[in-house]
Amino acid sequence: MRFDLVTALPDLVRSPLEHSILKRAQDKGLVTVEVHDLRDYAEGRHRQIDDIPYGGMGGMVLKPEPLFACVEALQAQHGPYDEVVFLTPDGETFDQPTANAFSLCERLLLIAGHYKNVDQRVRDALVTREVSVGDYVLSGGELPALVLIDAVARLVPGVLGDAGSALSDSFQDGLLDAPSYTRPAQFRDMEVPAVLRSGDHGAVEAWREAQRLERTRARRPDLLDATPPGAGRGGAASE
Ligand code: ADE
Repeated sequence: MRFDLVTALPDLVRSPLEHSILKRAQDKGLVTVEVHDLRDYAEGRHRQIDDIPYGGMGGMVLKPEPLFACVEALQAQHGPYDEVVFLTPDGETFDQPTANAFSLCERLLLIAGHYKNVDQRVRDALVTREVSVGDYVLSGGELPALVLIDAVARLVPGVLGDAGSALSDSFQDGLLDAPSYTRPAQFRDMEVPAVLRSGDHGAVEAWREAQRLERTRARRPDLLDATPPGAGRGGAASE
């Protein structure tokens, strides 16, 4: 799967892509992430990518020309994209079903704005999906783009070592994860629940399931309303 990420701040996103699961996914050739500096597509001596808005509002607006030039050059180079995604707080809220759907794509082009807005003509003519990572405003779309890439890339077959582990993530079946423990069995006055040390797999599974339901009921009852009957039989979340 290929991600192309267009940003005015390429250095902001490069390093997080060079670690952990995302790095391994790229090293294995399962995922390609290419970062494109919007300024490379701007013309003129100053390579200007933004300008003041019409209508006298404050802030700056990303100009259409560099974005059109960039997206069209990438489309010419790599063929059409499944989706051209603009990260924006006014987009549809990103969630696990959206990540699952994106993971079936071959090519995603992500546009991260880092100014007040982007010229509406870009959104009208180039963008096919507008995505928000939550109801709060960040300084730009770069961190949201990384969130999207991380959530989607881990679902690409082969990216996680254990084939089942992405499916057993929290949210994947509509329930939160059960608590996890590791050694030592006793730390200060806190003990690992005896059932987890019992070796009784059935009892462990039942305990985990009960914990997941209890946590979901306590923290996210809205998820239970949305969970179809029979769902919620997964294991624990992994990395
Ligand atoms: N850009 C700024 N805030 C954002 C958000 N919450 N989601 C996506 N893009 C953004």
